[in-house]
Amino acid sequence: MIVNPFRYSAPVGGDDLVGRGAELELLQRTAEEGNNSRLVAPRRFGKTSLLRQLVSEARSDGWEAVYVDFFGVLTLADVAARIERAYRRDLSGVAGRWFDGVRRTLQSVEVGAGPISAGVSLRPGAAALQDRLDLPRRLHERHGRRTLVVFDEFQSVLATQDEVDALIRAEIQHHGDAASYVFAGSHVGMMRELFGDRRRAFYAQARELELPRLDPEAAANFVVRRFTDTSRDPGTALAPLLELADGHPQRTVLLAHGLWELTPAGTAADEATFAEALTQVMTEQLREFEGTWTTLAVGQRRVLTRIAEGVSGLYAGDAPGGRSGSNRTAVRALADRGEVVPERTARSGYRVVDPLLALWLRSGRPQTWPAE
Ligand SMILES: Nc1ncnc2c1ncn2[C@@H]1O[C@H](COP(=O)(O)OP(=O)(O)OP(=O)(O)O)[C@@H](O)[C@H]1O
Ligand SMILES: [Mg+2]
Repeated sequence: MIVNPFRYSAPVGGDDLVGRGAELELLQRTAEEGNNSRLVAPRRFGKTSLLRQLVSEARSDGWEAVYVDFFGVLTLADVAARIERAYRRDLSGVAGRWFDGVRRTLQSVEVGAGPISAGVSLRPGAAALQDRLDLPRRLHERHGRRTLVVFDEFQSVLATQDEVDALIRAEIQHHGDAASYVFAGSHVGMMRELFGDRRRAFYAQARELELPRLDPEAAANFVVRRFTDTSRDPGTALAPLLELADGHPQRTVLLAHGLWELTPAGTAADEATFAEALTQVMTEQLREFEGTWTTLAVGQRRVLTRIAEGVSGLYAGDAPGGRSGSNRTAVRALADRGEVVPERTARSGYRVVDPLLALWLRSGRPQTWPAE
């Protein structure tokens, strides 16, 4: 059986990764120099896919490489546990055996386990975290191995305690020869707070890398190749698909997946096939759109819709002086969440990141698709 070649719900790598060669190269070069990077991009732009690829190539280049996902951490103990789990999973060979031995010497991550010595003002979990952050230095000292450490969803650590970033930086700042770090996150505002605020520990500590939308030609080649490899032709559906997806990585793949489903082997899709595929995809996304909508304040809903509609004069409602600035505040909040990004060519000066959400907003936020 030939299976649908488009994977839209899990990180992709190897042949499935479209473009990203330049970004990969920059991340590799920065790590090689002993410097750190940060990768900031909206949800589903392919951060994790790129990072996994980076990890796999780093290993081939002779690094140890550890990928840690901080999504959902609530305490310092959680942070410590995530790091430990990543080392256990990602180190093998000499380094893996070294880690098996070292693990036993680490402070327990169980909160409240063991007596906390008097006079130590560390919060629960802090000592355990420090121990785990120190691992690359010890590995380097013992075996001369360099480690590439990837911290994905790094902004999540802000949920654990005040100044957690200071604690982390204090541990890793002397790792120049032992380790290089890549910090990634999808909450643009929190990442900016961590790395762009002079008062924070990580201020200017990592080279920023943005993840752009997919190059249209690369996206087209990818879709055509996957269809051709599976005895199908995207035909005249290709143009409207690429136009709607507009370089959004996951949306491109999701729409291609939907189109492929409706294209029997040995045939070519057309515009009618695309319209049908779009209906199915939109129908499946309605709950997600409604979920996003529900979490927004009323002012944010209004501004987001105006951006989706491509109107000019986003701040028209903001009277100079008085209760001014509310639309500005809403735009800022939406940008921090990664729902909108500045766009020079748009009349509003912004674009909605997710083209399918934008379509739903423009279409009057219907509860069924197409709208009745
Ligand atoms: N470079 C790419 N080439 C092809 N598909 C991609 C690419 N980047 C992302 N995708 C598509 O987007 C989906 C999501 O990718 P990924 O999980 O890497 O994104 P992410 O930015 O880490 O998302 P999240 O913010 O949800 O963690 C993948 O399943 C894949 O379909
Ligand atoms: Mg991710």
